[in-house]
Amino acid sequence: MSQAAIIGTGSFVPNQIMTNNDLSNIVETSDEWIKTRTGISERRISTGMSTADMAYEAGLRALESANLKAEEIDLIICATITPDFFMPSCACMVQERLKAVNAAAFDLTAACTGMIYGIVTGEQFIKSGMYRNILVIGTETLSKVLDWEDRSTCVLFGDGAGAVVISLSEKGGKLMASNLEADGSKYDLLTCQAMPLRNPYIEDLEEEPVLPKIRMHGQEVFRFAVHTITGNIKTLLKKTELTKEDINYIIPHQANQRIIEQASKHTGIPMERFFMNLNRYGNTSAASIGIALDELVRSGKINSGHKLVLVGFGGGMTAGSMLLEWN
Ligand code: ACO
Repeated sequence: MSQAAIIGTGSFVPNQIMTNNDLSNIVETSDEWIKTRTGISERRISTGMSTADMAYEAGLRALESANLKAEEIDLIICATITPDFFMPSCACMVQERLKAVNAAAFDLTAACTGMIYGIVTGEQFIKSGMYRNILVIGTETLSKVLDWEDRSTCVLFGDGAGAVVISLSEKGGKLMASNLEADGSKYDLLTCQAMPLRNPYIEDLEEEPVLPKIRMHGQEVFRFAVHTITGNIKTLLKKTELTKEDINYIIPHQANQRIIEQASKHTGIPMERFFMNLNRYGNTSAASIGIALDELVRSGKINSGHKLVLVGFGGGMTAGSMLLEWN
């Protein structure tokens, strides 16, 4: 079997900062409520860039850090729940912008677990020997599907993109183990409706179709998140026969500081080892783990031999994780 590793990372967030105080002018909320319940201080909001635009920027940075030319990419996978079009895929738009002329391209949907599903999917093409270099991008313009009148959701999310290049390599973040999960019985905990059925056989059509908006059962999502982060870390440790002391950093999906604190308590892994940047970006869904990984890598804190866990959870409900060893 061939070894797949993350050999480059990149990210992009829009310039526009929306603070908690800015939000308190839009809905009945406060900086104090948002900070104590979530840990979020501000988020980035697109003032014109689309999901594919941000994916391109993050992808370009990941290619530069991997020291690869766009023509060397064999496959582009974009994970997103907020594509610009149903068709074409975001990945095809990125392929065109990067001039990655030799790459196949497709999107996948696993909500906030999208980056994990994307990397694990890409890894299989490398292990099978089919492809050598794969660009995986998590990218979201969540601001376009937020209900800006619903204070229980609009304060949580932000826009951005994170990317990795995975390759056949002994260098970089070697993928030592991974785990993917789904529980469709909980699908209605977190939803964003697509087009309603509208055709000549449907009576009582509403004048205007309702625009898609995120709806969430916050407390149940909270419980699912704590349970799945904890379970995924245990699963990876068992698969790799490592102990929690062997793990240098955990990059959880950046949804809520209290979720991460609970996961720290349940696993007995100290908070200092959980990387967090959600205070600055909020929850960027499929983009969050890629943005966080890129920031951690560029901070220079990862040394050879370090072991990292990436763990995500999100709509579906989906969950997933991987253990990387840095070389
Ligand atoms: N500002 C002020 N008050 C608010 C706000 C707000 N932004 N939002 C809700 N409230 C009020 C509620 O109306 C309620 O008031 P009431 O007691 O008068 O009815 C009160 O605050 C408490 O509401 P709860 O929903 O019980 O608040 P909770 O402590 O559960 O926090 C939160 C809500 C932050 C959403 C929490 O449940 C959570 O983080 N859940 C997980 C959400 C998440 O991580 N989602 C994304 C994960 S998956 C993915 O990333 C797509």
